[in-house]
Amino acid sequence: MRKPILIANWKMNGSLQSNQALMVRLLPRLRLFRKTMDLAVCPPFPYLFQVRDLLGYTGIMLGAQNVSSYVSGAYTGEVSATMLQEMGCRYVLVGHSERRALYGETSQDVAAKFRSVLGLGLIPVLCVGETLEERENNQTRTVIEQQIQAVIDEVGLASLARGVVAYEPVWAIGTGKTATPEQVSLVHQDIRQFVARCAPEASGDISQELRVIYGGSVKPGNAFELFSLPDVDGGLIGGASLHADDFGTIAGALAEASGVLTGECKVE
Ligand code: 13P
Repeated sequence: MRKPILIANWKMNGSLQSNQALMVRLLPRLRLFRKTMDLAVCPPFPYLFQVRDLLGYTGIMLGAQNVSSYVSGAYTGEVSATMLQEMGCRYVLVGHSERRALYGETSQDVAAKFRSVLGLGLIPVLCVGETLEERENNQTRTVIEQQIQAVIDEVGLASLARGVVAYEPVWAIGTGKTATPEQVSLVHQDIRQFVARCAPEASGDISQELRVIYGGSVKPGNAFELFSLPDVDGGLIGGASLHADDFGTIAGALAEASGVLTGECKVE
């Protein structure tokens, strides 16, 4: 069974004061869900320490939004996986579309980051997704397969499955335009089928172990429908994760959709 997972990506938002206020409201709302799903909060780097302290022993994990692929050295402005591990991070986002589009990260760069995160026993969350132009040119599947293939080339298939894949259509991020359940379903199925095709027959069906989550304008009003889709194992939440009530409601929707509260899980 794949354990549901919900990750808050705060992006470049927050302050010491607002983080504290958000966490104080959020933690009680997540209490009910922390044993049945993996929950993580990814603040900007300077606040990792603060959020780690606020999370304490709640069982909710700390995550980072980016990482360097290098171990240490003259890389001004970069943060290594070792440093993130020392800060208590469990998850690290790699290849978010904002990193790919605004900072020129290539799929090879992202694959190297995936490797460095995994090498320290942390869990990389590989973000993949197509732009609107790519979707309109029927390139969605090719683009996403290339993004995943780069990681398989770098670390191998079994290691890919030790991470999480987040499907985030670029055109749905921060735009209020959510992909339809049909669009999400198709891409998630494609991802699983692609991974299954990559697997040598003897290796078992890794594609059924891989957690694939959705991100892109997930809100309290659409979360349940998206999370009910059979190949969707959770969410990566941007804007709505900055509001305790919204994120709490989204966690509730994931719990309900995946049947973890009643013990009837949707995936055997
Ligand atoms: P929004 O939820 O704000 O659309 O952001 C999604 C995202 O990019 C999460 O990583």
